[in-house]
Amino acid sequence: MRKPYVYITRKLPEPIVDQFRLFSEVKMWNSENLPVPREVLLEEASKADALLTMLSDKVDQQLLSVGKNLKVIANLAVGFDNIDVIEATKRGVAVCNTPDILTDTTADLVFSLILMTARKLVEAVDCVKSGEWKSWSPLFMAGADVHHKTIGIVGMGKIGEAVAKRALGFDMKVLYHNRNRKVEAEQTLGVTYQSFNDLVSESDFVVCLTPLTEETKGMFNKETFRKMKHAAFFINASRGAVAVEKDLVDALKNGEIAGAGLDVFVKEPIDLDHPLLQLENVVALPHIGSASVETRLAMMKRCCQNIELILNGKQPLNVLNM
Ligand code: GLV
Ligand code: GLV
Repeated sequence: MRKPYVYITRKLPEPIVDQFRLFSEVKMWNSENLPVPREVLLEEASKADALLTMLSDKVDQQLLSVGKNLKVIANLAVGFDNIDVIEATKRGVAVCNTPDILTDTTADLVFSLILMTARKLVEAVDCVKSGEWKSWSPLFMAGADVHHKTIGIVGMGKIGEAVAKRALGFDMKVLYHNRNRKVEAEQTLGVTYQSFNDLVSESDFVVCLTPLTEETKGMFNKETFRKMKHAAFFINASRGAVAVEKDLVDALKNGEIAGAGLDVFVKEPIDLDHPLLQLENVVALPHIGSASVETRLAMMKRCCQNIELILNGKQPLNVLNM
C-alpha cells in the first residue's frame, strides 16, 4: 500500500521527522527561519495527504481547493486564524492545533512581558551593557509595581487561567472578560468577571489573550485606549490584529496609557521603521509565547500524533472540526 505523503512547512529536528517516517513519506521545507514560498506550498498541498503548518502559512480556499488528497492540516500552534476552518470542514479536511501543552509556557511568557514592561527591564539591561549606568540613584530606572495591582485578562481560556494563577501569586486583583462566564474559575481561583468596558477602565494591566476572530479584530482601538488609566499597561500575546496599531501608537505617544508589552503584531516580522518600535515605552518580542525547547518539541510531537491518528482513521487528540 502507498504510504501517505506528509509535507511539513518548516525544517524540524531530525528526531521529530523520524517519527513521521514510521508511517509516512515525509518532506519538509528546508529552512528553519524562512517560511515556505506560496508556490511551493500550493504544489506540495496538491500532492499531500497531510500538512504540518506554521501560523505564518495561509491555509485558505485556494490551498484547500488544490489539496485534493488532503485529510488533515495540523497547525503548530494553539491559534488557527491562519486557517479557513469552515472551508476545510466543507471539504472534509480535519484541522488540528496544539492546545494545553503550551499553556504554562505561554503564561510564563505573558507574565515575563508584564514584568519587563512595568519594570523597564529591557531598557535597564541595555543601559548596563552600553555603559550608561553611572551610579545608583533614587529614581533611576524606576518603573511601576506589579504586585497588588489589578490585572484584567481579556480572553479567559486555559492560558488566561494560568496567567491568573501567576497574578494571584503576586497578590494581584484579577478581573477577566470572556464570551462565556467561567464560573468554576471564579470559584476556584477567586477571579471576577467584568464587562469589557469596566475591565479596561479598572485594570492596571490589560492583558489580551483572546483568539483573533471577526468579533475580536480591532477590539483594542482609540476608544478602548482612551478608557484605560493613564498609568495602565497594554499587554498583547494573542494576535496583533486584535489591536489597531495606529491607535495604540497614538495612545502611547499622547500618554493615554503608560506602556505596552507586545509579543504579536499585525505584520510579523514587524517592519523595523514601524512607529511602535520607535517608542521607549514599548517592549516588543518576536512572537515567542510558547517558545521553550520542551514545549515546542511537545507541540511538534503532538502534530505528528494527530496526523498519524487521522491518517489511520482514528480519533485525534486535538481537532477543531470533527
Ligand atoms: C501562538 O501564537 C499559538 O497560537 O500557538
Ligand atoms: C536596593 O538594593 C536597596 O538596598 O534599596
